[in-house]
Amino acid sequence: MTSSPILKLEHRANECAKYLLESESLLCISHVDADGLTSAAIATQALQRAGVSVSTAFSKKLSDLELDQIAKMPYDTVLFTDFGSGKIDKIIEHKELGNFTPVICDHHQPSDILQINSEPINHRIADLDFHLNPLLFGIDGATELSGAGTCYALAKSLECNGANNRDLSALAVVGAVGDMQAKNGGLSGANIDIAKDGADAGVLKITRDLSLYGKQTRSLPKLLEYSNEFGIPGISNDSSGSIKFLNNLGMELKNNGKWKTWSGLSPFEKKEIVNELVRHSISRGLSASKINSFVGLAYELELEVIGTELRDANEFSTVLNSTARYGRPDVGLSICLGNREEAFARAKNLLAIHRKNLSMGISYVLRDGVSIEENFQWFHARNQIRDTIVGIVAGMVLGLEGTDPNKPIFAFAETEDGDLKVSGRGTTALVENGLNLAEIMSLSAQHVGGEGGGHNIAAGATIPLNTEKMFLEKTKTLLLSQPN
Ligand code: C5P
Ligand code: C5P
Ligand code: ZN
Repeated sequence: MTSSPILKLEHRANECAKYLLESESLLCISHVDADGLTSAAIATQALQRAGVSVSTAFSKKLSDLELDQIAKMPYDTVLFTDFGSGKIDKIIEHKELGNFTPVICDHHQPSDILQINSEPINHRIADLDFHLNPLLFGIDGATELSGAGTCYALAKSLECNGANNRDLSALAVVGAVGDMQAKNGGLSGANIDIAKDGADAGVLKITRDLSLYGKQTRSLPKLLEYSNEFGIPGISNDSSGSIKFLNNLGMELKNNGKWKTWSGLSPFEKKEIVNELVRHSISRGLSASKINSFVGLAYELELEVIGTELRDANEFSTVLNSTARYGRPDVGLSICLGNREEAFARAKNLLAIHRKNLSMGISYVLRDGVSIEENFQWFHARNQIRDTIVGIVAGMVLGLEGTDPNKPIFAFAETEDGDLKVSGRGTTALVENGLNLAEIMSLSAQHVGGEGGGHNIAAGATIPLNTEKMFLEKTKTLLLSQPN
């Protein structure tokens, strides 16, 4: 029998948990996105259930300055969730100065491997006892385990006094889905163990279903129209085509004159629509691989109300991004902790703004154009797209008309602090050929006096204004040195 991949983290997770259970004053600091919020929610609930009190804070990025500020706070122990590994060199310095004891629960690439002139990786990592990161145990942090999943491993080790933390697996799945780890038909690797825990605990329903975004809340015509990833002629990106397709099915797809949502359909109706989508696509010559991608594993939060954003792991993660990326991580955290009234109402307002910004951002990029260079492509959003969502927009436009699906994309936007934010996004195929964006973003940023890091497939950086040209020149050279 093969053992579950998540168990590879168990020993280190037990060591981290043992230390945390004895900590006197504890701060949990987490990243402001869906994975960061779910990470914090899982860690803090597990700690509280174990009788440990913990304060929570969030940060856009863990800068040197922020670490200095954290060091001045009156906490003996700092638990970093969904970031920390990318700053391991600085964190070790604080530990050595006795400022705090760090515990890191992250899945980003450790900064040891991202530094120019760094000490050998094993030496630096060995300096830190409480570093829980799938990458240290042979698990891919970009595709097989998220920050929330790593915190879930910790939560299991924190179980004591009869507590059972398996219910927290639902949030771990939301974090993984939010980090785009369910891209190719479903979750993989250690994430599968977590989803299975969720199903066993009755908090997750895993089904084979249409792999489109918005199954809970989008009206059927919009659900089909926004199926860019399928590229179905006459349906994707075609409002009247989608309505015509649905009308031609001869089914009752409206309730009191209002289009139903996918979640409001019977299994028979869902099956009929998928079958007809397949027939329609075959007759229009869509590739078999595209058609096969119509259906994949979907993750529903069994305890949430059907027809709400929180029922679907994907929609839930967008709600969380709408709060965290707009300066309201407290609202998102509150939802994760079970507040379904005031916080959810607030989040819905933020969601409307987020959706509008994403759609305006995509239009801006497509209108203004992407500059395609020899081995990469880029666009500059200046102050037209918020720095906190420019990475999401970059990921969404990659592969659309006007971009090259076979080159990584880099996106620039101005920040409120007078810096430049850069987001890089790649594809699975590019990563398989050797692309490591975390390394590129880190080294190119250091080259121009900034800092960056992340994952092989998606990474980010902050650099000084007016350094984009130098940043891209360095990036071009680094890309040539990676074997893709
Ligand atoms: O900081 P964190 O790891 O939570 O953020 C991951 C980011 O990388 C997300 O914005 C996600 O969309 C992106 N990503 C991606 N494809 C992957 C993994 C992550 O676009 N396979
Ligand atoms: O900000 P963006 O969505 O582009 O970030 C992509 C990935 O890179 C995320 O996982 C984020 O945490 C990481 N990142 C980082 N260091 C930065 C900026 C982003 O590790 N300075
Ligand atoms: Zn993450």
